[in-house]
Amino acid sequence: MNGSKIPSWASLLVILVASLSCVERHPLQPRVPEPQMEQASRLTAPYGDAQTAPPAIVIEGKQLYEGKGACALCHGLSGKGDGPAAHLHNPHPPRDFTDCTVQQARKDGELFWVIKHGSPGTGMVPLVPGILTEDEAWKIVAYVRSFCKKPA
Ligand code: HEC
Repeated sequence: MNGSKIPSWASLLVILVASLSCVERHPLQPRVPEPQMEQASRLTAPYGDAQTAPPAIVIEGKQLYEGKGACALCHGLSGKGDGPAAHLHNPHPPRDFTDCTVQQARKDGELFWVIKHGSPGTGMVPLVPGILTEDEAWKIVAYVRSFCKKPA
């Protein structure tokens, strides 16, 4: 049947439009651009590994996350990416920090790099030095890590 050509063109168009408008990248894809990755992944917190940061640092990080840093506005108090402004960020929803698969895929330095430089083309804007100092950003990384606790 020659009519079958029309549906195939129509579906091609649908795929084309969908691929153009659906520019969301999978959360597991790195957010630090390739040229900066080597340098970013080598960055470490002044207190060492963020997953084993001293409790006092984690508490300071929580206060900054919920207060001055305003992270909770988008990432939510829960860390699930369900803050009051989260819905404004389609097709790039705020990261769900309770997703341990994503957390494990990231080095501390990558998280720090995105807090400092942002994730271009998304609502994640650069926050250091405008809003936070580097020291404060590292404390928040410790708190962000605490959303994905390794089973005891
Ligand atoms: C205005 C909304 C908004 C605010 C405020 C915000 N973020 Fe984000 N954040 C986002 C969005 C949207 C993404 C997802 C970006 C993407 O998909 O590339 C994101 C992604 C991230 C990531 C993920 C990086 C990765 O490697 O996947 C980290 C870490 C992060 N934010 C930390 C923070 C911290 C810490 C704060 C507060 C100091 C903060 N964000 C404040 C919207 C926000």
